[in-house]
Amino acid sequence: KQGGSDAAKRAAGESAAEAVEDGMVVGLGTGSTAAHAIRALGRQIDDGLDVTGVPTSFQSRQLARECGVPLAEVDEASIDLAIDGADEVAGGDLIKGGGAAHAREKIVDASADRFLVVADPTKAAESLSVPVPVEVLPAARTTVAATVEELGGDPQLRAAERKDGPVVTDNGNLVLDCAFGPIEDPERLARRLADTPGVVEHGLFVGLADEIHVGTEDGVTVREP
Ligand code: A5P
Repeated sequence: KQGGSDAAKRAAGESAAEAVEDGMVVGLGTGSTAAHAIRALGRQIDDGLDVTGVPTSFQSRQLARECGVPLAEVDEASIDLAIDGADEVAGGDLIKGGGAAHAREKIVDASADRFLVVADPTKAAESLSVPVPVEVLPAARTTVAATVEELGGDPQLRAAERKDGPVVTDNGNLVLDCAFGPIEDPERLARRLADTPGVVEHGLFVGLADEIHVGTEDGVTVREP
C-alpha cells in the first residue's frame, strides 16, 4: 500500500514532529511518511531545538544526517518519542516491514515512552490483511516457511529489485512476506511467529501505538487507539 499522496504523508509527518519537545531523544522511523517527520525535525533543529535522533534503518540514518539531526544508537539512549510509518493500520495494530526495517523499528518504537504512527488514508483497514514481513536467520528460511504454512500463511522470500537473489536486511538476514489474508487475532499470530525458532522479528506491531496521525491533503486527524 504505497498509494497515498505525498501531501497527505507530509501532513502526517509534520503533525507528529510537532509533538517533539526540547531535549528529547526521538526514534526516527523508516519510509516516505516518516521521512517527512525527519525533515521537519531538521528544520526545527535549524531553529534552535535540541534533539537527538535514533535511526531505525540505514535510510533514516542517511536522511537524518542530511537534515542535520544529531544521532545516537538505540543502545546508547532512552527514547522519549518514536515517529514511524506503517504499511497497514487497523485499530491500534500495525503491519510494518515493507522496507525490511521492522526489527530495528520494533526495538525503537516499543522502547519509546510514546510511539506516534504516521500514515495516509490508504493505510487504514478494518482488519490487518497485507502480507506480514518476517525477518529470518538465513539458515532458518525453510523451517520458518514450513511453520508459516502450518499457521495458514503463504510465505514468499522477498527478492531484491536490482540484483538477482533475495533482499538482505540491515542485520544480514532474509525476509519472508507471509500472506495470511485478513488476520482475525493479530496478537495470537504475533505470538506464534515470535515463538518460531529462527524468526528474528515479524512485522505485526500489536498494541504498541499511542497515537495514529492520519494525514490528508486537507489536514490531519489524530486518534488514540
Ligand atoms: C519499513 O520497514 C516499514 O515499516 C515502513 O515504516 C513502511 O513501509 C511505511 O513506509 P511509507 O511511509 O513509505 O509507506
